[in-house]
Amino acid sequence: MTRNEQLLFHLPMRLRRNRKSASIRRLVRETELLPSDLIAPLFVIEGRGRREAIPSMPGVERLSIDYALQEAAELHAQGIEAVALFPVVKRELRSPGAEEAWNEEGLLARAIRAFKERIPTLSVIADVALDPFTSHGHDGLTGEGGEILNDPTVECLVQMALMQARCGVDLVAPSDMMDGRVGAIRKALDEAGYADVSILAYSAKYASSLYGPFREAVETRLAFGDKKSYQMDPANVREACLEALLDQEEGADILMVKPATLYLDVIAALRARTDRPIAAYHVSGEYAMVMAAAERGWLDAAALFHETLLSIKRAGADMIFTYAAKEVVGRLLRR
Ligand code: PBG
Repeated sequence: MTRNEQLLFHLPMRLRRNRKSASIRRLVRETELLPSDLIAPLFVIEGRGRREAIPSMPGVERLSIDYALQEAAELHAQGIEAVALFPVVKRELRSPGAEEAWNEEGLLARAIRAFKERIPTLSVIADVALDPFTSHGHDGLTGEGGEILNDPTVECLVQMALMQARCGVDLVAPSDMMDGRVGAIRKALDEAGYADVSILAYSAKYASSLYGPFREAVETRLAFGDKKSYQMDPANVREACLEALLDQEEGADILMVKPATLYLDVIAALRARTDRPIAAYHVSGEYAMVMAAAERGWLDAAALFHETLLSIKRAGADMIFTYAAKEVVGRLLRR
């Protein structure tokens, strides 16, 4: 607006004054995205010097431990403080009982140890769930009718969390949605002398259609059924708060909502009910949709990822798991 523009009417408040320059826009900005808000998931495979493309997740690759370390070191140098490790387990090591999940010489165990040895200041998060290790692809042990058994699964998850703690993990992240697992894991960790290991609970994890590319990445396909008897109904928000507050009572240090963008109302509702930090998972399908449109030239991926992650933070999340960490951090540092 120019000074000599003729005013047609007097307005006591013209909100555009606070948008008139880049510097004023920065002064009044309510939410700022920082590299330290972002957690980079990494898919880890066996071998050395190996990288594999994941067709439904352009720009994301499965990496052998040595390459994953390189990638993580670059992200850490740009201000990323944590990675979440996901092992891609060989088919012959998967079984109905998921015993590989707590193998102390398995791929996940070796990856955690390598990360803590080579990049000690970078926090390592590991999923506690059986699905990469079960032959049927479910997150739990199955009963005779194919139902997912709660309490026997929790016993497996406890073994898995203890193994991760012995390898030096900083945060264990139960992503299975069994009842009572946070309390059981907290008790077992404390009794074994791992009171310092944190629990980041996937508290409100929905049975979403957005996990397809992730399942391609870790090569899990459900042999039967779906995950609706343990993951949440997308229709529910009060139940999400109940789940999260129960996890809080059981000793969770950080509460997660997943997926993120279709569930911003859930993040906001939980924000109003807890003082614990909230994590959100911007999942594989949310990443894939943007990349697919960007490949056709319909959307600007880097700009949209920035706007997306900002919206997740604005809704109330303190930290965000995202496959777009690299793109967004590059953009944040260039500004
Ligand atoms: C495993 C797990 C899943 C994701 C994270 N941990 C898949 C699932 O529950 O089926 C999905 C992450 C993503 O889609 O990016 N329990």
